[in-house]
Amino acid sequence: MHDLTGKVAFITGAGSVGAGWGNGKATAVLMARQGAKVYGVDVAASALAGTSAIMDQERHAHWASRTCNMTVSHEVKAAVDDCLARFGRIDILVNNVGGSAPGDPISMSEEVWDAQMDLNLKSTFLGCKHVLPMMERQFASDGKGCAIVNISSIGCLSFQVDGRVSAAYAASKAGVMAFSRSTAIAFVKKGIRVNTVVPGVMHTPLVEHRLVSQLGAADAQALIARRNASVPIGRMGDAWDVANAVLFLASDEARYITGTDLVVDGGMTAARPSN
Ligand SMILES: NC(=O)c1ccc[n+]([C@@H]2O[C@H](COP(=O)([O-])OP(=O)(O)OC[C@H]3O[C@@H](n4cnc5c(N)ncnc54)[C@H](O)[C@@H]3O)[C@@H](O)[C@H]2O)c1
Repeated sequence: MHDLTGKVAFITGAGSVGAGWGNGKATAVLMARQGAKVYGVDVAASALAGTSAIMDQERHAHWASRTCNMTVSHEVKAAVDDCLARFGRIDILVNNVGGSAPGDPISMSEEVWDAQMDLNLKSTFLGCKHVLPMMERQFASDGKGCAIVNISSIGCLSFQVDGRVSAAYAASKAGVMAFSRSTAIAFVKKGIRVNTVVPGVMHTPLVEHRLVSQLGAADAQALIARRNASVPIGRMGDAWDVANAVLFLASDEARYITGTDLVVDGGMTAARPSN
């Protein structure tokens, strides 16, 4: 199941903040375990070093990485060219880079709005812009299909009354879903599938890192317990829940699935408060 032998995967945000497993890092390691050659990019060399250490430990020989800011077109192109020079093709693209900044339309500065659009939406656009031409050429020459998986968030699907507001994050992640559907149909005849994974409340290092720095360790633990209790399934998800969904959509087992969203949230968006 989900054998990726012979495929090359290009994964953005393939490190993670601090120790532990972020979504991109878990996806990179899972795809290597499934036999793919994996090329990971991240803006932070230290984040990539953590992923490289695990790839070495697990003896994944076909792993390469490069620091790259996914919001800068020429850096993305250089990384894609380097991946092609090393591995010769790209079968899977995972646009995982993203993150949230708080603010409503009054409190948020224009600079933060623009930075959120760049980080979450432009990074996804640039990944597709520079990888799609190669995928198109590959399909024309060998008839092998390719897959793109973009990462959104349930933070664009539903909102807590009196909760934290992240208006630009919501708008940019909704944009990722619409962009994915549009691109899926634009390339449906060219052997390229495009889907979106929509994670819910996940317990990744980013969450821990941010919460502890904002709230202190004790209050962060209390909040983590409340977040676990708030999910219908009884706990937050983790990076492996996201990585397994990405793996499925990238694999040949998902060959008939394109232009759709896979919500990975323990039932959160389907639930409503008790009367
Ligand atoms: N953690 C959650 O609860 C959660 C929930 C929903 C959606 N998501 C989404 O999942 C994705 C990954 O989140 P995570 O929690 O695993 O984050 P993470 O911080 O652990 O990993 C993201 C990686 O992206 C890198 N990065 C940041 N900006 C970059 C840039 N401009 N170019 C290249 N690399 C860059 C970071 O250095 C980091 O290593 C994001 O798109 C996020 O919005 C996360």
